[in-house]
Amino acid sequence: MSAFAPASSLGVLATLRRGVAVSPQLVAGWKVTFLLAVVASFGRVLVPIAVQQTVDTGIQAPGGPDVRRVVILTSVAAVGLLVGAACSAAVNVRLFRSSESGLFSLRTQAFRHVHELSVLTQNTERRGSLVSRVTSDVDTISLFVQWGGIMLLVSVLQIGVATILMAVYSWQLTLIVWAGFVPLFLALRPLQKRVNGRYTVVRERVGAMLGAISESVVGAETIRAYGVGERTQRRIDESVASTRAAMVRAQNLVGAVFSSGVLVANLVLAVVVVAGTYLGIAGQLSVGKLLAFLFLVQLFTGPVQMATEVLNELQNAVAGWRRVLGVLETPIEVVDAGADGVPSPPGPATLELRDVAYRYPDGPPVLVDVDLSVPAGSSVAVVGATGSGKTTIAKLVARFMDPTAGSVLLDGVDLRDIPVDQLRRRVVLVPQEGFLFDGTLAENIAYGLRSDDDAAGAPADDARVRAAVEALGLADWVDDLAAGLGTAVGQRGESLSAGERQLVALTRAYLADADLLLLDEATSAVDPATEVRIARALESLTRGRSTVTIAHRLSTAEAADSVVVVDAGRVVEVGHHDDLVAREGHYAALHSAWVSQTR
Ligand SMILES: Nc1ncnc2c1ncn2[C@@H]1O[C@H](COP(=O)(O)OP(=O)(O)OP(=O)(O)O)[C@@H](O)[C@H]1O
Ligand SMILES: [Mg+2]
Repeated sequence: MSAFAPASSLGVLATLRRGVAVSPQLVAGWKVTFLLAVVASFGRVLVPIAVQQTVDTGIQAPGGPDVRRVVILTSVAAVGLLVGAACSAAVNVRLFRSSESGLFSLRTQAFRHVHELSVLTQNTERRGSLVSRVTSDVDTISLFVQWGGIMLLVSVLQIGVATILMAVYSWQLTLIVWAGFVPLFLALRPLQKRVNGRYTVVRERVGAMLGAISESVVGAETIRAYGVGERTQRRIDESVASTRAAMVRAQNLVGAVFSSGVLVANLVLAVVVVAGTYLGIAGQLSVGKLLAFLFLVQLFTGPVQMATEVLNELQNAVAGWRRVLGVLETPIEVVDAGADGVPSPPGPATLELRDVAYRYPDGPPVLVDVDLSVPAGSSVAVVGATGSGKTTIAKLVARFMDPTAGSVLLDGVDLRDIPVDQLRRRVVLVPQEGFLFDGTLAENIAYGLRSDDDAAGAPADDARVRAAVEALGLADWVDDLAAGLGTAVGQRGESLSAGERQLVALTRAYLADADLLLLDEATSAVDPATEVRIARALESLTRGRSTVTIAHRLSTAEAADSVVVVDAGRVVEVGHHDDLVAREGHYAALHSAWVSQTR
């Protein structure tokens, strides 16, 4: 969480200010909205004024009730009310519109940022918590800026307008009202801090809960396989329970604040009635003014209570806002050189790693002084024990992250200087376990297509997918499937076998048509027929391309132009398979293990 410290340490006002700076649409046109809100508040205040005037100058007119005056006054009040209602409708619409476009931009910004964060941060920061930041946290903000924002604006205005009018009618009674509420206002500030703290805990727990739930859904199969459903359920129950506890703690406090508001409001009303009656008897207050005053007290206390309610939403929103801003503030480790970068046009690719070192954040060194070179069009197999750093090398070459020392060069240019979109076009990593999306086989393969391939006159996606399948010699496999390319693969490709998922990944990579292929060979065993298909597809896929394969199969290492042996993060041997076997070093040992396995 330390990366989020800046936003999380902001005060309420500073958070709102930064939130508005990030999505300025939230306050677009606020001046007009504010004016409309002023008019709406005055419209509401017309009623008490009309009551006072009607009673004092209409019904109790010196020469008996003046019906004409009563009719005029009530008509004016009615018109005022209508205008006020129209203005308040307009305020609502305007606030909804601005808050929706503000939140839209906040959501898309946060989501885009999550995608730009390197794979590293996404792993470290729990994904569920990131998801909750772009979804439920934004929702809490939306609740506030839609309703809370409206209410706060209208309430404050109404309190002001009501106070002015009350003072006009009777300064003594106004003093009583304020004497009742000032202590409440004073008490609110420290309470606000505590409510704030409790809501921050709520947002954190909600994030953790969503994380636990989404993880358990994603890992459902493993959970079932190991029969740990109960343990998982217990963990989820615990996080749900602790979310509830945090929520209850926060709501208890809010409830106490709210009830004290109601109590004070009723007490004030009672005192005003008694005091007003005495003032009336003393001849200092007309009946109309007393009646009007009672209406005004209502116009005053209503918003005060509303404001305490809004306070509740505000705290929740601020806590959510801090977390969303925290996402936006997480620095992107892989900085795109963009237009200032060195262009990297398509063509044969050479790769070089010079003194590359890498350590994951807070981890020990994983790679030390790695040198490696791949001439254009050649194939290099990287072999080594599990955990020796092979996948890390591939991730550095694909620039999922930057080396902590040394450099990775494509055609002699440091990856950091190449515009990321051009790099992604030229270098493609086929991971150990490719991810399949819920959809058809064709849709999944088409993920390899680039949007800039859609030039006029280019063949349709389906045709290109089909061509790729044929080029890799997989037509017979696809045609044997129930619905051919239209076969649904299920969530994460669950309805395909592990070998079939690899075939999809390879076809995808073929469509991507990269200059440098990084293949992290799957370790899962597949049946001999699929093995043959994979080998055949690999041959067509890698032909003429520079290839770095992280080899788990003897055949791959044998066929490579050169083999690089990695041990505990260091390159210990480089050479052709035959030479390395003869050298009787690391590779020879690995080789004899492979051979004894396959015999
Ligand atoms: N995201 C990560 N965060 C922290 N440490 C990591 C991360 N990924 C890998 N490591 C560590 O880096 C080391 C090298 O991992 P790497 O995945 O490169 O190994 P590998 O050679 O590909 O292993 P395998 O043959 O099992 O795939 C391991 O010790 C691993 O624990
Ligand atoms: Mg690996």
